[in-house]
Amino acid sequence: MNDMALPFFNKKNVPKDETGTIVLPEQLPQHVGFIMDGNGRWATKRGMPRKFGHREGAKNFKDLSLYCRDIGLRNASFYVFSTENWKRPQDEVNAIMDLFWDYLCEADQYLERRVRMIFVGDRSRLQDRLQKRMEELEHDSRDFEKMNLILAINYGGRDEIKHAAQEIAKEVQAGKLAPEAITEQTISEHLYTAGLPDVDLLIRPSGELRLSNYLIWQCAYAEYYFTNVLWPDFNRNELNKALADYAQRGRRFGGI
Ligand code: FPP
Repeated sequence: MNDMALPFFNKKNVPKDETGTIVLPEQLPQHVGFIMDGNGRWATKRGMPRKFGHREGAKNFKDLSLYCRDIGLRNASFYVFSTENWKRPQDEVNAIMDLFWDYLCEADQYLERRVRMIFVGDRSRLQDRLQKRMEELEHDSRDFEKMNLILAINYGGRDEIKHAAQEIAKEVQAGKLAPEAITEQTISEHLYTAGLPDVDLLIRPSGELRLSNYLIWQCAYAEYYFTNVLWPDFNRNELNKALADYAQRGRRFGGI
């Protein structure tokens, strides 16, 4: 859309791609999911160790997550560490966990901006200090309404569905729920993302064309946006392009 047609529209913080196409608030997805892929390759291309790429990736995450809030996105989720990522060399796992800890320590700036922080995944395997700080941030930001920032850590979509099935089975066993009363909504309500909207737009940079076990239930009707740009280079302008692309898609949810 040409912004000349919108003389009274507040253009501050409006996503605009290189062609000048602006995305109106009502055209924004309710929930954008990000798979932060390509950090390792970004570093290797520069002759640097992989963990250097994660550091750059973390910097980009911090900038983009605040940008998401400023442009009016209501839910943004980021895949920080998967249930499969433990297979990586210990040194790399430690580097990612340290970056995550550093981030949690400076996360008060998100609270100051009224961002609600939500962590999804199995926390039981994470260091105690991480678990404690995650709980603290969730608690302190629980009433904030500006944006939900959802961080997936030790997260796997299948693991999440298995966990939901176990919780539902316990309710059935206790006589609180009849098997035939289980609906899709029952399952949604038992996922780590209970109460959050499904993903509308799933962004994966770095040229890989897969979901990698990320929010597999919640992405059932998501629009996908793939690009060859590596995560540390997936900047605000790249996000604007993805949002402009999303805005012109026709979503039918199985209808016509
Ligand atoms: C995938 O890239 C990236 C990860 C497994 C880790 C993502 C972590 C960060 C962006 C940093 C920590 C985050 C926060 C919130 C502080 P890859 O390593 O698989 O890249 P490659 O495919 O090029 O090897």
